[in-house]
Amino acid sequence: MNKNNQNKNIISIILGAGKGARMKSNIPKILHLVNNKPLIYWLIKSIQIINPLKNILVVGHQYDEIKNYFQTNKELSNLFHKNQPSGILNFAFQERLLGSGDAVKSALNNIDKNYDGDILVVCGDTPLLTSETISNLIENHKKTDSAVTVLTAKVENPFGYGRVKKDKNNNIIKIIEEKDSDFDEKNIKEINSGVYCFKYKILKDYIHKIVPNEKTAEFYLTDIIEIIYKTGVKTKSFATDNLAEILGINDKVALFQANREMRMRINKKFMLQGVEIINPENIEIDENAKIGIDTIIYDGTIIRGKVEIGDNCKIETNSFIENSKIGNNTSIKYSYIIDSFVGNNCEIGPFSHIRPNTKIDDNCKIGNFTEIKNTYLAKGTKVSHLSYIGDSELGENVNIGAGTITCNYDGINKYKTIIKDNSFIGSNTNLIAPVIIGKNSIIGAGSTIYEDVPDNSLGIERNKQINKKLMKPNHKPKNPK
Ligand code: UD1
Ligand code: CA
Repeated sequence: MNKNNQNKNIISIILGAGKGARMKSNIPKILHLVNNKPLIYWLIKSIQIINPLKNILVVGHQYDEIKNYFQTNKELSNLFHKNQPSGILNFAFQERLLGSGDAVKSALNNIDKNYDGDILVVCGDTPLLTSETISNLIENHKKTDSAVTVLTAKVENPFGYGRVKKDKNNNIIKIIEEKDSDFDEKNIKEINSGVYCFKYKILKDYIHKIVPNEKTAEFYLTDIIEIIYKTGVKTKSFATDNLAEILGINDKVALFQANREMRMRINKKFMLQGVEIINPENIEIDENAKIGIDTIIYDGTIIRGKVEIGDNCKIETNSFIENSKIGNNTSIKYSYIIDSFVGNNCEIGPFSHIRPNTKIDDNCKIGNFTEIKNTYLAKGTKVSHLSYIGDSELGENVNIGAGTITCNYDGINKYKTIIKDNSFIGSNTNLIAPVIIGKNSIIGAGSTIYEDVPDNSLGIERNKQINKKLMKPNHKPKNPK
């Protein structure tokens, strides 16, 4: 994409000022998440591919939250970086929420009066719309030289959508909203998707002619169609047969449907690249992740941010992997891995927590209820059960016994634990950092180690065991009830 192939005859207006009352939420509607990205992100991404001369997002309700989100969310701000051909996103402010017609009106001030191209108007709550469909709509609009072309669909259950009424020449006479439709109109199966392509000059001239709806007092953008039709020019429709694409997110049921559809769309791409995905509707994978062939991903797994996973891995049920790199042939079960690296042939979990800045080399094993943070594990090292290893460096083939804790924090500062190659740490050991355990050394179980242990040594810290006779000779310990 560069400035040269910019589509100079298209300006987009994205409507996102509405209250989204049916969402019953404190979060602005267009910031609700679909596959962990705000629904406006997906729409803008599809529009960016068309590469319009300018993009105008109309905001109103919760304007500050939306603007702030665009400034702080990297992925969104990158879409509108100053180096992108479409440049920064232009915000238009709709002062009073007087309907979709009024929203379009508030965007028009941002457009040069001498502009001679088309305007793509899109409702901000349609995250599944693809760039192919937008392209086809624009192409059709140009080919038929229409004043306006509406993206429509024929559906079995048109409830809730505007109905598209046509004359015998296939021009749209008008769009009737659900609330205003009579019995016959309710039976019309062709619906308005909320996506339109207008000739700018026509939109500019007729937008001011819309009058408030009798029932709601809102200015409906859809009413402009009848106004334009009456002037005798072409008001056409372009029907898509991909119904999922035009889903408008009005409530949380539709949000769920959009999530399911988006997951299917993204996960299908991974499956076609050779990744095996069990139950793809229930697995969230970032669309930019890199995953190798024959890797299997099971139900409930979430893969977020910048993630790379090699070939032949098994990512089992309910794992969460974020901003991490995993090698080949590694198995991860019911585990959390964040901002970390895991090598080849490793076994992680079940129930392991790998926290940021951990690097686990090849052939390592991290077992159940083990937490590792800011630590390097060299090849073949095992932490198999119930341990906390933080701010540490473990050599090759180290074996950490069950219940080992690195005591890395004295309440003020954090300190490092170093365990060199081939050492064996007995169960239930406390390692008071800073401390170094030398090569080939052994720590006796239950020790609290607060001084360095040299190479080839046994470190043991344990009180002498005392056995005393019980006072009552016939005392028998009982299990409490
Ligand atoms: C709208 C269409 C309907 C179509 C459906 C497709 C109108 C009147 N109706 O209905 O024909 O079938 O989309 O999904 O347009 N908005 C503003 N400012 C406002 C009011 C709304 O910016 O004052 C924005 C909303 O943020 C939203 C869009 O306009 O993105 C559409 O509003 P919404 O309330 O979702 O309209 P629908 O009832 O879905
Ligand atoms: Ca809607």
